[in-house]
Amino acid sequence: VQSAANLTWAGAAKSIAEAPRDVNANKGKYGHILLVGGSYGTFGAPSMSSLAALRTGAGLVTAAVPKTIMNQVGLITPELMVRALEEESGAASLGNLEPKLLEALMKGISVLAIGPGLSTQGEASQFARDLIAGTTVPTVIDADALNAFAGKTDLIKQAAAGGKRILVLTPHPGEMARLAGLTVKQVEADRISLARRFATEHHITLVLKGWRTLIAHPDGRIAVNTTGNPSMAKGGSGDILTGIVAAMLAQYPNHVAEAVEAAVLLHGLAGDFAARDMDEHTVLATDTVAHLTTAFRYRV
Ligand code: APR
Ligand code: MG
Repeated sequence: VQSAANLTWAGAAKSIAEAPRDVNANKGKYGHILLVGGSYGTFGAPSMSSLAALRTGAGLVTAAVPKTIMNQVGLITPELMVRALEEESGAASLGNLEPKLLEALMKGISVLAIGPGLSTQGEASQFARDLIAGTTVPTVIDADALNAFAGKTDLIKQAAAGGKRILVLTPHPGEMARLAGLTVKQVEADRISLARRFATEHHITLVLKGWRTLIAHPDGRIAVNTTGNPSMAKGGSGDILTGIVAAMLAQYPNHVAEAVEAAVLLHGLAGDFAARDMDEHTVLATDTVAHLTTAFRYRV
């Protein structure tokens, strides 16, 4: 058991999101997120991440998804831009990503978020690894993009370049177990020291999800989140967190630790307000997005 002195509360970071946006701001100031994910039958995951990123205040959001689901993803909200990825059997098939295509995909992008609904079929995992290695923008790695690095975390360390590149990983305990080559039981038994070790060794920010999500920073600091509730134990909740983290990074690129902590806090807080207005049974992940307004306005 770790002493409480090793932990800070994620709520302390929310103040960065409480300052008003600059009166003379334009969308360029708040970043352009490329959200990569989705596969045949899994169009909801990238849709929800994109919606959450827009609702959190990103300047622009583009979703890059396999071409057969492009029109479905675009329906989530007209503010979202969509881009088609070549696919094979419904999954992105761009292993050995060509430099020209990489350049075209990343043009003007300030934050990459990758994984929700991506699948691990065909070349999807190779594509995720190539895209992450092929750019230096701050990147949020979630879901199947995390699975793409199972047993290959040396590639994550390489991409992080000693902390020069911002990488934020958002595994649930199952994804953490696959990444680290452990069982879920081992992960859950030792969350704090495991998260700290993984973050410091790879020079990344690790968001280890679950009840009392931990945010482990590359310098060894750990914050614990106290918001969130079991209404969020439903598919889609994690996809929404991915979008919120990406949008906070896009808006506060010089305050990475605070941005990630505030994202986790806001996500749980929105879920708490949704459960209060609705019921733990009836809240859907998209209802959590609808309660982000109340979460931003709440003063901790
Ligand atoms: N209390 C507080 N927070 C909770 C609770 C709870 N009881 N239950 C869930 N949450 C929060 C978690 O902290 C996390 O932020 O909801 C989110 C759930 O995220 P994920 O486990 O990633 O779930 P999600 O992505 O929506 O769906 C799972 O996606 O990651 C892939 O392959 C995975 O198929 C799986 C699917
Ligand atoms: Mg998930």
